[in-house]
Amino acid sequence: MNINLTDEKGHLVQEFEYDFDAMMMKAESQSGNAFSNAVQVIEQSIKEKGYLKNASTPSNIIKYLKSFAAFGYAEKPLVISVKKINERSAAMIDTASTTFEEIISLPNEELQKRYNRLVGLDDIKSLIKKEGATIMAPETLQNWSKRFHNKSLEALLSFSDRYPFFIFEGDVGTGKTEFAMTFGNELAQATNQEIILARMSMKSRGNGVVGEMSKLITKSFQDAKQLATSTKKPVIVLLDEADSLAQSREENQMHHEDRAGVNALIQGIDHIRNSATPILVVFCTNRLGALDPAIKRRAALVHTFSRPNLEQRYEVFRKYFDDITLTPKELAHLAQMTGESESNNYGFTYSDLLTRVIPQSVLYAYPDKPLTFKIIQQTIQTIQPTAPFVEQNNKGGKVLG
Ligand SMILES: Nc1ncnc2c1ncn2[C@@H]1O[C@H](COP(=O)(O)OP(=O)(O)O)[C@@H](O)[C@H]1O
Ligand SMILES: [Mg+2]
Repeated sequence: MNINLTDEKGHLVQEFEYDFDAMMMKAESQSGNAFSNAVQVIEQSIKEKGYLKNASTPSNIIKYLKSFAAFGYAEKPLVISVKKINERSAAMIDTASTTFEEIISLPNEELQKRYNRLVGLDDIKSLIKKEGATIMAPETLQNWSKRFHNKSLEALLSFSDRYPFFIFEGDVGTGKTEFAMTFGNELAQATNQEIILARMSMKSRGNGVVGEMSKLITKSFQDAKQLATSTKKPVIVLLDEADSLAQSREENQMHHEDRAGVNALIQGIDHIRNSATPILVVFCTNRLGALDPAIKRRAALVHTFSRPNLEQRYEVFRKYFDDITLTPKELAHLAQMTGESESNNYGFTYSDLLTRVIPQSVLYAYPDKPLTFKIIQQTIQTIQPTAPFVEQNNKGGKVLG
């Protein structure tokens, strides 16, 4: 199979041939999903060639591989957007990529599009642009102070007490991960520099073995610091779904492992705080209100993500069904239908709308009918909103439903 590496503008930078069977054999010998493993095998060889994969395109790659596996060939090469990296950084990124699930270079067009598509987050968007810029490019604050006051204001000293650490909390499917994955792009553009995004999902990584979670956290902070130092580029460390970890240490039945994890996290934040090249830690959790106070106290920003309200649901439908000419009244009706009801005191999440209502409506119409208000309405009637995340016991939460 052939792989074409292209730059941000889509120009070919390198093409190479790849032994599909050998790769799949390697991928199948590892635990977990063979196709996901294959993506990592490919990423690895891209890195060996001195490039870093740009977008978060694993699903495209997986689609390509599945089709290749089914047909035994592909008409077109697999195209992967990349960025050139120097040797030292390459070595470091290589080490870090065993710790993190994804390392992406920003700005990135695909992520910008996803960011633009997010509905109802204007407040946090403008807030983060400021907060983030003061962390990722501290000199911008100094420049402002000099410009308007001709000196560095005393008030700026208050910023040195803050930790470069954001918490995104809120119910499942409310956009925490999507926002956390994409806002860095805006920061890269606003501060006019390249930023590295390193993401780790704690859920898929830290489960089970005692001591693993805290080791992993410690390692992610160490690697992030080295990554920032060797590349001289600011790094965003995204610790996603760190749910059990965020739990208060005061809950007396708290699992010993979680407590070690909380301590590792606090130490880690202290560790990266004074890094010469800025590092921003973002922590996403479903565990509303159960966050350890010691962690919360350190955060420069805590934002709670919520389910969309009536207007926001309207906006989602308007955005996605704009080109099938629904009337404002029909849009309002869809927004109404997906809200709270007599049987549910909660409405649809963003995820319910985006990953269920909209695609299922399309599939309902496809292939022999046009997409209409009526079809969308009927689809909604078959779907129940996801139940809120509730605390189940002291070791973890459970989604009832
Ligand atoms: N504000 C939003 N506007 C549009 N789509 C959204 C919004 N929030 C979430 N989504 C979509 O919903 C899905 C789930 O979002 P995700 O970020 O994974 O939720 P969480 O991490 O809070 O559980 C994604 O497909 C995402 O694109
Ligand atoms: Mg998430």
